[in-house]
Amino acid sequence: MSERPVSPPGFCLWFTGLPSAGKTTLAKAVTPLLEERGYRVELLDGDEVRLGLSADLGFDRASRETHARRVTFVAKVLARNGIIPIVALISPYRSSRAKARQEIGAFVEVYVTTPLEICEQRDVKGLYKKARAGEIKEMTGIDDPYEPPEKPELLVDTRSQGPAEAAKELIGGLERLGWLSPRRA
Ligand SMILES: Nc1ncnc2c1ncn2[C@@H]1O[C@H](COP(=O)(O)OP(=O)(O)O)[C@@H](O)[C@H]1O
Ligand SMILES: [Mg+2]
Repeated sequence: MSERPVSPPGFCLWFTGLPSAGKTTLAKAVTPLLEERGYRVELLDGDEVRLGLSADLGFDRASRETHARRVTFVAKVLARNGIIPIVALISPYRSSRAKARQEIGAFVEVYVTTPLEICEQRDVKGLYKKARAGEIKEMTGIDDPYEPPEKPELLVDTRSQGPAEAAKELIGGLERLGWLSPRRA
């Protein structure tokens, strides 16, 4: 038997949900919990990727698909090197998420289930208000579709729990699914 430490298997944690559902918040809350277990983590936040790699894209269907495809590629490369990509991306289309799953393989889809009404109350970036006022178009949940996952590995209800609690529960879910080994005492 080899004495070499085995690097933990990489997998992708992919958060999907409406704008203001809590994807970014949860991704940030779960990051230190994985890091303290010795995992290397890279956060791929849709908004951040749009500042660089996807700066050329808009919000029409083709652009959203391209955006998801780029994020998928980066996530795949990270995951196969044992780094856990945590993706926080609206990723409104089932087909894009299915392609991500197929390409990355080790894929954990986390559906942040916050309903539109609550997301709209939160309106973290003020975009729902702008969309309702007709100032912006192609707003997911308003005049652009969001296709909820049919069989996500994990669900988060951000109405019944805060981010810290939800992040802990996600770690428990990852253990249950066998992606993380239970913590040694
Ligand atoms: N359990 C929870 N998980 C995540 N966010 C929550 C939760 N409860 C309340 N919130 C709040 O909801 C908002 C979610 O914003 P954000 O994470 O930026 O959403 P998204 O990235 O999905 O657009 C934040 O203001 C956050 O504090
Ligand atoms: Mg976000």
